Amino acid sequence: MTGREALVFLIALAAASTLFITTCRADDPRVIHIQGKVVCTDCSKDWNEWVNGAKPLQGSKVAVICMDNNDRVVYHTMNITNEEGMFKLIVDRHINGKKLMVNGCVVKLVSSTHSDCNVLTDFSGGKTGVKLRSPSLVYQDITEYTIPPFSFTSPMCDDKDIDKPAQVNDD
Ligand SMILES: *[C@@H]1O[C@H](CO)[C@@H](O)[C@H](O)[C@H]1NC(C)=O
Repeated sequence: MTGREALVFLIALAAASTLFITTCRADDPRVIHIQGKVVCTDCSKDWNEWVNGAKPLQGSKVAVICMDNNDRVVYHTMNITNEEGMFKLIVDRHINGKKLMVNGCVVKLVSSTHSDCNVLTDFSGGKTGVKLRSPSLVYQDITEYTIPPFSFTSPMCDDKDIDKPAQVNDD
């Protein structure tokens, strides 16, 4: 190895270890941001419109519930969707001097203020709750998770199998 090659090697090594340190920090964020959307799905429409034409639902309550190793709830907070149906939940991991386990947190639907669209569906796991899997964004000590869209449906649709809608064939 020439002196120059050795230098390049050392720089590469330094870069790799910096990357390693950054990755470790990212696995241990101080603040978690969770964002997602809530829509209203209408079972009277065909499949395509049901899935793709769903309307944003304002005023829906969404919760994040965090458990410890013994399945005890150690943190719980809620927020409400805005006019675009979007919600944001901000969780500080330091609770009463202890650190929350990110993989012990579940995000789920709570309620809707719209009487014509207030039946919980399990689209994207909104009814059972979804765990935080891979972050959509990591910056400094904040880790952001984007949840796939949750949905409510109308009481009229309640007797249908709303969790596994049948494919409608128009042709
Ligand atoms: C609720 O959402 C608002 C607006 O996005 C945000 O500023 C606020 O911090 C959120 N509250 C919690 C508890 O996450």
